[in-house]
Amino acid sequence: AHQELGEFAHHMRKEYWEQPASAARALKGRLEERFGTARLDGLNLDARAKRAIRRVKILGCGSSYYVGQMGAQMIEELARIPADAEPASEFRYRNPIIDPETLYVAVSQSGETADTLFAIDEIKRKGGQVVGLVNVVGSSIARACDGGIYLHAGPEVAVASTKALTNMALSFGLLALDLGRIRDLSIADAKRIIDGLQAIPGQIDEILRQEDRIAEVAKPLSASASLFFVGRVRGFPVAREGAQKFKEVSYCHAEAYQSSELKHGPLALISAQLPTVAIVPDDELVQRNVGALHEIAARGGPLVAITHAGVDLSGLTAERIDVPKNEVELDPILLTIPTQLLAYHAALALGHDIDKPRNLAKSVTVE
Ligand code: G6P
Repeated sequence: AHQELGEFAHHMRKEYWEQPASAARALKGRLEERFGTARLDGLNLDARAKRAIRRVKILGCGSSYYVGQMGAQMIEELARIPADAEPASEFRYRNPIIDPETLYVAVSQSGETADTLFAIDEIKRKGGQVVGLVNVVGSSIARACDGGIYLHAGPEVAVASTKALTNMALSFGLLALDLGRIRDLSIADAKRIIDGLQAIPGQIDEILRQEDRIAEVAKPLSASASLFFVGRVRGFPVAREGAQKFKEVSYCHAEAYQSSELKHGPLALISAQLPTVAIVPDDELVQRNVGALHEIAARGGPLVAITHAGVDLSGLTAERIDVPKNEVELDPILLTIPTQLLAYHAALALGHDIDKPRNLAKSVTVE
């Protein structure tokens, strides 16, 4: 599908700039402020079926899997239902135990990823219920699911997904609200989350307006053979997605690690030649995260911190990119945005074919 690029040199950049508008579409008509809940009619689950859910298992591939990890944390935090994410490609080959009290969630931009589609077939064959978080309306995955949430991101052309991922994360926020409010999420907490969700489109715009500065930070990173992306708990899926995006378009080796685990091995690799991009939200783990940055700095490792204005990085030589603060449960959505811009501008500096990286396809419809 040929899309008009207009002032943009690449679809990837056009698409990440579309996010303030596309994120607003993910929320439109889905928030019930009066009752502090989300309205997700497409799930095709009544309150009784929702209350019967004992676990949530999220399946997707590539970036959709990493957003699934973000979503699992939102569901655990807000709905207090045990939740985890797994690559669909692995799940279907390990003879998974299909449990009728588990809600399976398939996540896909294209709705055509073969690994995800076959995972759904396997679940349905064994009597499980599957809902989809899918962008392309009427796609194979959308049709194979019992219900779902359409992402409304609009057509995405660049192989490296941006706006669809953001809408996946927002949809998980909505799902977590919906499941939380029929359990023990208070109306006050729900309203806090609703206000947070509604602030996100405008806050994304604030981040995009820092593009020139983020591009400056990206240039030296593009010269590295290898780099780390680190974060922990809520920040870890952000680091994983950031590393994935960076390697997809810049072809630099980028590895995601839990900042808590650095001292158990990878710290041996830190040197002036190996930069680290650290995800440092202003949450209850901030002191520990900043401590890990000091460990890296003491070994001469260059640092980029994607963080919040309230975080004190004094005593550290680090490039900082501040994102607007939201609620702790939703912060990962905004912390991810600068990683899109870092990847794009690193690839741009290297002169790569950003929209069609070598060896990759937008949707992998064969095994
Ligand atoms: C391909 C793309 C990735 C994408 C993954 C899942 O591998 O290159 O960017 O994350 O498929 O795609 P989906 O359409 O299922 O979200």
